[in-house]
Amino acid sequence: MKFSIYRYHSESTEQPYIQAYELADSEIDAGMMLLQALIKLKAQDESLSFRRSCQEGVCGSDAMNINGKNGLACVTRLADLKQPIQLRPLPGMPVIRDLIVDMQPFFKHYNDVKPWLITKDPEPEHEWKQSPEQRAKLDGLYECILCGACTASCPSSWWNPDRFLGPAALLQSARFIIDSRDQATDERLNQLDDAYKLYRCHTIMNCTQVCPKGLNPAKAISKLKHEMLKKKL
Ligand code: SF4
Ligand code: FES
Repeated sequence: MKFSIYRYHSESTEQPYIQAYELADSEIDAGMMLLQALIKLKAQDESLSFRRSCQEGVCGSDAMNINGKNGLACVTRLADLKQPIQLRPLPGMPVIRDLIVDMQPFFKHYNDVKPWLITKDPEPEHEWKQSPEQRAKLDGLYECILCGACTASCPSSWWNPDRFLGPAALLQSARFIIDSRDQATDERLNQLDDAYKLYRCHTIMNCTQVCPKGLNPAKAISKLKHEMLKKKL
């Protein structure tokens, strides 16, 4: 099986280049995932760099561009990929080394939306309660693993990486605005009310196409715009 992988080291003066790799058929098992193949390639060439941890689609660390589409290597079956399998770092993010990108700007935007419950009432004795219906409203939002595949597929994020918050952070903002226990909806919406943070989303929908968890950041952003409109009327 043939691979074509982006190579770059930010601390080297060498220009980025594409390197060909190959795995023998005897090294490939039925149902093997791309991440397992990368681990075998790293045994051939220990300088090949990528992030991974859980190998189960949970930690979000091995997001990369796979044959032109962002996804998680650990849940992408080799058998589903056309050869040579082309692997690039997530687009629009600064590359540190090979398939490893700098996620700091991504997590800065995540932090900007205050991804925690903000409450004003006195702390209850036991817990903040939610009805099953209120809890169900968080389905499709809480499952985000912060892999960055959506934000790195969004042209609005590429064009305005500093000012547009991007689909992942906006999905998180919606997750807390929709949460019945959160008491900071006005503050959260006020914080989003500028020409870039939210409104640079032009509903291109790449985010929803690539999310490996099947989430719909575009729908969450549209919910935020709706909430903003309601607040202004
Ligand atoms: S919404 Fe999906 S693609 Fe975006 S960060 Fe969360 S899990 Fe990854
Ligand atoms: S290694 Fe954790 S999501 Fe792929």
